[in-house]
Amino acid sequence: MTESSTMLITVQNITTALKDKPGALLPILHAVQDALGFVPEASVPVIAKALNLSRAEVHGVISFYHYFRSTQPGKQTIHLCRAESCQAMGGKNLEHHIKNRLGIDFHETTTDGKFSLEPVYCLGNCACSPAMQIGTEIYGRVSPESFDAAINESEELV
Ligand code: FES
Repeated sequence: MTESSTMLITVQNITTALKDKPGALLPILHAVQDALGFVPEASVPVIAKALNLSRAEVHGVISFYHYFRSTQPGKQTIHLCRAESCQAMGGKNLEHHIKNRLGIDFHETTTDGKFSLEPVYCLGNCACSPAMQIGTEIYGRVSPESFDAAINESEELV
């Protein structure tokens, strides 16, 4: 069985289990993303049919909520804080460096599949701005140099 057909079976099972709940679309999308790490394009017609919605309606909800990913995430996700305190402490400069270093924008994955980059709006680490999270680890007072060091360390693990 191919990876994509396994994914579709997962989507089908989730959709069947949740489709009769009131406002089922969001719970289904959350459950699919929890199970697969993203909401594959091929799941849209399955979900739309089960809920008697158009594909455009399902797409609209997926793209409205930035939380939902349409592409497979990297092995590690980097969450970069874009909230006020981090912005005031050089977050914009750091964002520029990270995007250049990885060669990707927010919501994208590096070509080697190692890292995805996502914005986040406060990691609760404002006293140590600018902050980011790689996997489950929170980093504070991140500079371009300390980002490179953290990435090099993480690269050895993935
Ligand atoms: S504003 Fe960035 S951690 Fe709170």
